[in-house]
Amino acid sequence: MKLKDVYPLYLNNKAVQPNTDLKVIDKFTGEIAFRTALATPDVIDEAIAGAVRAAEPMARLASYEKQDVLNHCVARFKDRFDELAYALCVEAGKPIADSEGEVGRLIDTFRIAAEEATRNYGEIQPLEISARAKGYMGMWKRVPIGPCSFISPFNFPLNLAAHKIAPAIAMGCPFVMKPASMTPLGAIIMGEVLAECDILPEGAFSILPASRDGADLFTTDERLKLLSFTGSPGVGWDLKAKAGKKKVVLELGGNAAVIVDKDADLDHALARIIFGGYYQSGQSCIHVQRVIIHADIYDRFRDMLAAKVKTLRSGDPKKRDTFIGPMISAKEAERLKGWIDDAVAAGATLLAGGGCEGNMLEATLLENVPEGTDVVREEAFGPVVVLSRFTDWNAALAEVNDSKFGLQAGIFTRDIHKILEAWDDLDVGGIVVNDVSSYRVDNMPYGGVKDSGLGREGIRFAMEDMSEIRNLVIRRV
Ligand code: SIN
Repeated sequence: MKLKDVYPLYLNNKAVQPNTDLKVIDKFTGEIAFRTALATPDVIDEAIAGAVRAAEPMARLASYEKQDVLNHCVARFKDRFDELAYALCVEAGKPIADSEGEVGRLIDTFRIAAEEATRNYGEIQPLEISARAKGYMGMWKRVPIGPCSFISPFNFPLNLAAHKIAPAIAMGCPFVMKPASMTPLGAIIMGEVLAECDILPEGAFSILPASRDGADLFTTDERLKLLSFTGSPGVGWDLKAKAGKKKVVLELGGNAAVIVDKDADLDHALARIIFGGYYQSGQSCIHVQRVIIHADIYDRFRDMLAAKVKTLRSGDPKKRDTFIGPMISAKEAERLKGWIDDAVAAGATLLAGGGCEGNMLEATLLENVPEGTDVVREEAFGPVVVLSRFTDWNAALAEVNDSKFGLQAGIFTRDIHKILEAWDDLDVGGIVVNDVSSYRVDNMPYGGVKDSGLGREGIRFAMEDMSEIRNLVIRRV
């Protein structure tokens, strides 16, 4: 498999090549993998103008027409499965098995959107609640919000871009998208596939890699009616402050926790925590960062985890038996290595890993980590897991909540009362029972509270954000 040397950007549905200024690196070899264009503010402005012109014809597309576009994407992503997985593996350094998993999820996401495209229901509402409303009836429907602005992250270059693109098409919203500069190819290939759909009006989509400096219009331009951003909390909240009157959806980070109670199936919990803590080098917003283990099983489970972490194979993500590939950059790996060293200097015990060479950070397991350290309190976004012990269930729930973040949490227990208590008391967007925080199926509501974000993705829920309710009141005369 080989990538092309140069890829275009997509402006108002068409491939254009204004320059080849963006060099994208193979994250394992460090060599230039391909070049693509960087959109200048002029190009972004032209794309927004195109999206404004496309808003009305997009809103008029029939449900089956939008469904046809989404089904076309599903078919073409299946045709191009291996190419998409290879592109991810190169540009993100994502191990090939995880890359293939993400292409499978991309296909699911578009398939769900194809179904939802025909389910944009409204409601009839009885209005006769008092004498002054006698003879009136109400009903509402959802209409597209208009041109949308999307900024997608490097860690799931396909599927997290898909969580914006697919519901926008299902809802009938034109969009401009800025993919992450380090991993733009997934979104560019989606552009190539969308460009095959003649039914989309010109301006329906633009996919524009851009430097952060040149990309202010994605946030500030008042012609855009919604900004949907996935990325780091610092950047996300800053963008919200600059977004003006537009609606803002933020899918940000976390330092997710998992509780392992004493009745858990430990072999199962081990396998899932190894996955959730270390797959794609922990670069997921719902990566398992904190594992809170019942004191009765703590020593045994800690030893099981430490032994397993030491066997995880790291190296070239293109090799099928690699589990730990590179992090996105040496800078990110060094940042996290610094946090690990600080924790150890403050008294933490290193149970496995801790080494770092360039952007390859070893799978790392820590215990006895002092409370205020970054590796506990901040978002690690890398292959690091921190253990702690509990004796009282409510104290374990409180420990999960002792975080500025609240995206997802996992609990391993067979006790229905504890499950219901967790559902009531955990201040997070979602709880996963007998699996890890990292578990996600693409039709479920996904998003966080506190610093983890605003709003929910998961097609139906994203479509709600990408629409406005339009009410109709009728008086019988
Ligand atoms: C994320 O990193 O927020 C997305 C995780 C996922 O979709 O699995």
